[in-house]
Amino acid sequence: MRVTVAVNGITHQVDCHPSTLLVHLLREELELTGTHVGCDTSSCGACTVILDGMAVKSCTVLAGQADGREIETVEGLADDHRLSPLQQAFADNFALQCGFCTSGFLMAGTAFLRENPEPSEAEVRKALEGNLCRCTGYQHIVDAILSTDTSGDQR
Ligand code: FES
Ligand code: FES
Repeated sequence: MRVTVAVNGITHQVDCHPSTLLVHLLREELELTGTHVGCDTSSCGACTVILDGMAVKSCTVLAGQADGREIETVEGLADDHRLSPLQQAFADNFALQCGFCTSGFLMAGTAFLRENPEPSEAEVRKALEGNLCRCTGYQHIVDAILSTDTSGDQR
């Protein structure tokens, strides 16, 4: 089947098998390897991308379900090598160690902050409950999201 997707503002047409998962389309066909596969069972959130404005686990979405839709991945967050506000907050708050989970947290956090730019800590923790991190203990990630400058565009 042929799938047409707009990824980070660029339209791609990709021929793929009907069983291809969105995460594999992104990583293997489009070589956008910032989206990670941690579990393949919808548990870890490492594969989170933004699909038509909603954070989704791309290991749970068929590529065909993304046909004609807009996808944002971690590669689209920085603007001309300038970090997005949330990426900058992750750096400032030491919110990553090995970094394997980070792209998923950044995409989940970006979608969340667009909807709720001034969240409480409890709201942040609730929003991120689908994302797992083996390294940080979460507090620094929560701190990063709470301290993100949401006055401008949340790419
Ligand atoms: S790889 Fe998708 S949730 Fe873990
Ligand atoms: S920073 Fe290593 S898993 Fe989150």
